[in-house]
Amino acid sequence: MELLVIQGSSKKERYEALLPQVASVVEGEADLIANMANVAAMLHETFGFWWTGFYRVVGDELVLGPFQGPMACTRIKKGRGVCGTAWAKEETQVVPDVELFPGHIACSSASRSEIVVPVFREGQVIAVLDIDSAQLATFDETDRHYLEQIVGFLRKTK
Ligand code: SME
Repeated sequence: MELLVIQGSSKKERYEALLPQVASVVEGEADLIANMANVAAMLHETFGFWWTGFYRVVGDELVLGPFQGPMACTRIKKGRGVCGTAWAKEETQVVPDVELFPGHIACSSASRSEIVVPVFREGQVIAVLDIDSAQLATFDETDRHYLEQIVGFLRKTK
């Protein structure tokens, strides 16, 4: 397997370079946890986020899955925090300032902004991708656009 190679200075250029590499890694492996682990690593390495990882839907909770970054909360109820809200509303949450998000769960006090993208399979949310930044307003519509495509690659894996 090729090592991750990302060139380009703008966010859009980096996502464009990352997309085919994520597609190729995920298409070559059928296991969901293994793919979540590599997707988290590729995003984290490319953008230098504070925390990048997945929470999986297990019963009525989200449970911590593969991630890169400091240790994090292990269980989140549906509707709680940014992650539980993305699950309950079944839509991406872009949070420019976590202190202004009602019910935000502070796993780390260094986190200032956040994006959470639901992972769908057969119309159901099976997990969320959660990314935290140590800077305010890191995430915007460009991140939403590309991250929704990236988690779409996970749909076919078990
Ligand atoms: N901030 C998240 C909790 C998970 S950690 O950021 C890794 C939330 O409010 O759901």
